[in-house]
Amino acid sequence: MKKLYGIGTGPGAADLLTVRATNVIKEADVIFAPNNKGTNMALDTAKEYIENKKVVLIDFPMGNVTKEDYKKAAEIIFNEIPVDKSGAFLTIGDSMIYSTFIYVMKELEDKDIEIEVVPGIPSFVAASCASKIPLTVKGDSFLLCDEYDETLMDKFDSIAVLKTFKNKEELLNKLEENDFNYTYVKRASLDKQEIISDKEEILKDTDYISLILGRKQEV
Ligand SMILES: C[S@@+](CC[C@H](N)C(=O)[O-])C[C@H]1O[C@@H](n2cnc3c(N)ncnc32)[C@H](O)[C@@H]1O
Repeated sequence: MKKLYGIGTGPGAADLLTVRATNVIKEADVIFAPNNKGTNMALDTAKEYIENKKVVLIDFPMGNVTKEDYKKAAEIIFNEIPVDKSGAFLTIGDSMIYSTFIYVMKELEDKDIEIEVVPGIPSFVAASCASKIPLTVKGDSFLLCDEYDETLMDKFDSIAVLKTFKNKEELLNKLEENDFNYTYVKRASLDKQEIISDKEEILKDTDYISLILGRKQEV
């Protein structure tokens, strides 16, 4: 039977790949990754284990990705994995968190293929460690989101907002209004990692590989 692994490659540093992820990548016959206009952080992270294997980059349209697009991706993946062989679909961070893999996996459900998911260190965990800002302490509620919702603001003590390249100013204003401290973490674990708390500096930055951690101020 064919087998597909979803592999979380972690936040970007090669030594933050798990041992299991490296073993699966070394064993896999084909490597899959979303095509990000040439650059792909997950592939870069794992390159030392991919060596000369076949790499299939899957195109997803910019903006709205439809069920049809995921279906097509699932077809490509299914057809590229030879019978009784395995493929590894690489995603940044963890594959179960805001990842294309989730939708592709769904479209493979009724095909004759086994799926296994290997965890990766999520970006917000790496960012918390890099900045030494705890995500949660005893009694805290924590919100992870990519589109933050102001109506939830009084329901949590700690927040991580991913994909912060859009509406950053509005988000920072709302955090301030609701007495949250915030920190911008860019490229956590990578050489170009930056940890910024100055509002103007945060607003100037446009890197997609960035997130915002917020914690309710203690009174
Ligand atoms: C499509 S989501 C993928 C999330 C990923 N699956 C995870 O577990 O963290 C992409 C977002 O992850 C965040 N991200 C990924 N790697 C990061 C890193 N090294 N430093 C900061 N943010 C990162 C950014 O917010 C980026 O816009």
